[in-house]
Amino acid sequence: MRTVRVNALSKSYDVLIGKNAVEALGEEAKKVCPGALKVLVVSETNVAALYLDPVKAQLEGAGFEVTDYVFEAGEQNKNINEIAGMWNKMAEAGFTRTDFVVGLGGGVTTDMAGFAASTFLRGIKVIQLPTSLLAMVDASVGGKTGIDIPMGKNQVGAFWQPSLVLEDISFLKTLPDEVFTEGMGEVTKHAFIMDLELFDKLGKANGDIRSDEDLLEEIVCMNVSDKASVVGEDENDNGRRQTLNFGHTVGHVIERDSGFTKPHGICVAKGMGIVIDACVRAGTLAKEDADKMKDLLKLYKLPVTDDITPEAIVEGAMNDKKKRGDTLSVILVNKIGQAEIRKMNKEEFLKFLSV
Ligand code: GLY
Repeated sequence: MRTVRVNALSKSYDVLIGKNAVEALGEEAKKVCPGALKVLVVSETNVAALYLDPVKAQLEGAGFEVTDYVFEAGEQNKNINEIAGMWNKMAEAGFTRTDFVVGLGGGVTTDMAGFAASTFLRGIKVIQLPTSLLAMVDASVGGKTGIDIPMGKNQVGAFWQPSLVLEDISFLKTLPDEVFTEGMGEVTKHAFIMDLELFDKLGKANGDIRSDEDLLEEIVCMNVSDKASVVGEDENDNGRRQTLNFGHTVGHVIERDSGFTKPHGICVAKGMGIVIDACVRAGTLAKEDADKMKDLLKLYKLPVTDDITPEAIVEGAMNDKKKRGDTLSVILVNKIGQAEIRKMNKEEFLKFLSV
């Protein structure tokens, strides 16, 4: 098993990565949640059908009293009603401050499990067990938790670091191809903004990191290390962490305009493609690097553009929660592996995006 340590300001914790890592859950949970008697496993219908029983068996084997909360899979259920359901389950089971939550699933699940934990009794521990590539390399690490409201995605939430993240690479075997591809949006993002070695490795793997489990484990580990280093420097998203939004400002608008029917990672890839082209036009990125980046996206079956207009992007982005005052922090890539945060107002952003 590989270990990546996340040293956030509010808390340090391990991300354990390996095949069949779930077999270590009981013992590891006892270490990071001493004094705990009860645990709530939060999951969604698709994941629960595959993994809820083995996860509960692990926790029961370690002596915990296990309750579960399974919601209907889908972004439309990332809402306060489901969180209230989790609070009620914990209250009914008599949870105290030493008890904990396990988030078993993709990003929707780990975000909601973390948010329920952050608010119940003013905050109890959470262990994240991500089952999707996207949740392993991004959502489950770094403590961003929350829910959607009708006005937008992730508009309500809290920074609440997990006590442990356990990433079982074997879980990825059952992931549908299109969901795996979506996760590659965040993997390629890390390569573009900060990791030339990862960029080269993905290129050498020639569009297939899935059939070799050792390679997959190594690549997940590289991504978690990238994320850990950013979160360690800027837990609260006031500086370097904003570079993780490369492609997201544009991608979020595309995602919202689709009524959240287009997957997040796909929209991020489209956003990255659009910003890559804009960087070339603005003279901040060499065309040769831009072509290599877009070729990598295509190699992993990700889109590199969208028919959204610059005007629609700017209008949508001005409503984004990441906006501060009248300016947006737009993330540029100046060369492969190196990102820059550039403040732009509405007019500057429109000019940057316009052909
Ligand atoms: N997903 C971006 C971040 O954690 O900051």
